[in-house]
Amino acid sequence: MKKAIGVFDSGLGGLTAVKELSALMPRENIIYLGDTARVPYGSRSAETLIRFAKQDLEFFFRQNVKAVLVACGTISSVALPVLKEMCPVFIEGVVSPAAKRAAQITKNGKIAVIATNASIHSGAYSRELKAINNGFTVIEKACPMFVPIVENGYFGKDNPVAKLIVKDYLSEIKASGADTVILGCTHYPILRPLIEEFLGGGIALVDSGMEAAKEVCEHIKNAHEEQLEGTGKNTYYVTDEPSGFTALAELFLNKKIEEVKKVSLDDDN
Ligand code: DGL
Repeated sequence: MKKAIGVFDSGLGGLTAVKELSALMPRENIIYLGDTARVPYGSRSAETLIRFAKQDLEFFFRQNVKAVLVACGTISSVALPVLKEMCPVFIEGVVSPAAKRAAQITKNGKIAVIATNASIHSGAYSRELKAINNGFTVIEKACPMFVPIVENGYFGKDNPVAKLIVKDYLSEIKASGADTVILGCTHYPILRPLIEEFLGGGIALVDSGMEAAKEVCEHIKNAHEEQLEGTGKNTYYVTDEPSGFTALAELFLNKKIEEVKKVSLDDDN
């Protein structure tokens, strides 16, 4: 039985990492967990987030996964050290890989971070960037409405509501002189076409889920744990009614999803 890679988020956002993982390692099995009954995570307290994060991780212990990707900027910002202590297998979040990538590509040293309220308040991205280079100027902006608009399917390139919200949140980033913007919440790359159109050329976007997926891939390859045969299977779990998630996930992934199962994280404990 091939062991899977576990990937989780509050909802659709972590699929940005799944897409990249599947492209990099098509033979791997991936188990995805979206805690849709409790989305959004970004407005919660650290105490609540740590409780949710432990339950998310325990779900993967029961699945006997070989690695875990915390495809959630919020949990990565607030709870990763706690999860690392609990976790017997390799575990990676999105903050450090995204910061590393931004540090590599910035030319003027001005890096903007957009993420959820909890991520921005934690200061995790800023700390990580300053640890790489204390001379970086970091501009941070919480964009809490991005998650509900994505979860409600408002991510079409011409969606007028999404366009308005993008403009409202990102005008100050556009004016800041940053040449690199970290999409520090994994939901935000789903809005990438709209964000790109508003910010215009000349500003590089860093997809945190994608960068984390690359890091997990590198670990799996270095540890000689990569599956070399067969086709990988993706299994999806959510904590609330699956139909809405399935429809939007198919739209974003641009492929049919066979089954999304409902799981209760509380009952399972
Ligand atoms: N996609 C998650 C993140 O990266 C969670 C967003 C939310 O649920 O608020 O932060």
